[in-house]
Amino acid sequence: MEPVRVILLGPPGAGKGTQAARLAAFLQVPRISTGDMLRDAIARGTEVGRKAGPLMERGNLVPDDLLIALITERIAQPDCARGFVLDGFPRTVPQAEGLARMPGGGGSGWTLFEVDVPREELLRRLSGRRWCPTCQATYHTVYSPPRREGLCDRDGTPLVLREDDKEDVVAQRLREYDESTAPLIGYYRDRGEVHRIDGDRPVHDVFEDMKATLGVRA
Ligand code: AP5
Ligand code: MG
Ligand code: ZN
Repeated sequence: MEPVRVILLGPPGAGKGTQAARLAAFLQVPRISTGDMLRDAIARGTEVGRKAGPLMERGNLVPDDLLIALITERIAQPDCARGFVLDGFPRTVPQAEGLARMPGGGGSGWTLFEVDVPREELLRRLSGRRWCPTCQATYHTVYSPPRREGLCDRDGTPLVLREDDKEDVVAQRLREYDESTAPLIGYYRDRGEVHRIDGDRPVHDVFEDMKATLGVRA
């Protein structure tokens, strides 16, 4: 069977991580989140983490060569042979070019989603997001609260606000999106189909839309 390879494009807070987790479980392929990989590297104090940390703290993108190396290694793992869901990569044109050159990163058979959400809603989602530093699960104080207030459902860890979800850092992340990531959507449109999804709806509805699109392609 041809591998199922999915790319989720969209601004900070659009719900890429939320939908990537559901899609990966549904398709039974790994979810590859570069944000989670980098936060994990920071927590472990690796060289990648030391380089990425100060940039992420300010809401700036991490250099392309570092991300390309990270993903080249990740998609070469055996669990990616049946496909994968990319969450947060590529997010610049050079990263997309890098992906196309990777073993397992080129060719056809990709599904691209552009998750569209208005700015005011992005800000509501990011300011209310809470995150588990132990297992990286994501919640929202209003939209998807944990069962016990302030504690992760899976492991009971106290939930925190992500450092880069503070207001001034969010503004910088949105600027980076407009400057470096938005042009990527045009790049991919020129090369094939990008499925635009209205992300300003309940999580379940967005997911159903994505499943329907994948069904059409399969
Ligand atoms: P990353 O972690 O990828 O952050 P991001 O792209 O800014 O995206 P977010 O994780 O903030 O949002 P999301 O779309 O995943 O939304 P979520 O599902 O959580 O990257 C962090 C940093 O790492 C970057 O700034 C950069 O420095 C670096 N980096 C990472 N990848 C890189 C790359 N390729 N190149 C260079 N640098 C890179 O949802 C948000 C909230 O909304 C949650 O609380 C959720 O519960 C809620 N929610 C989700 N969907 C819905 C819905 N439908 N209705 C209501 N609420 C919802
Ligand atoms: Mg995310
Ligand atoms: Zn947890």
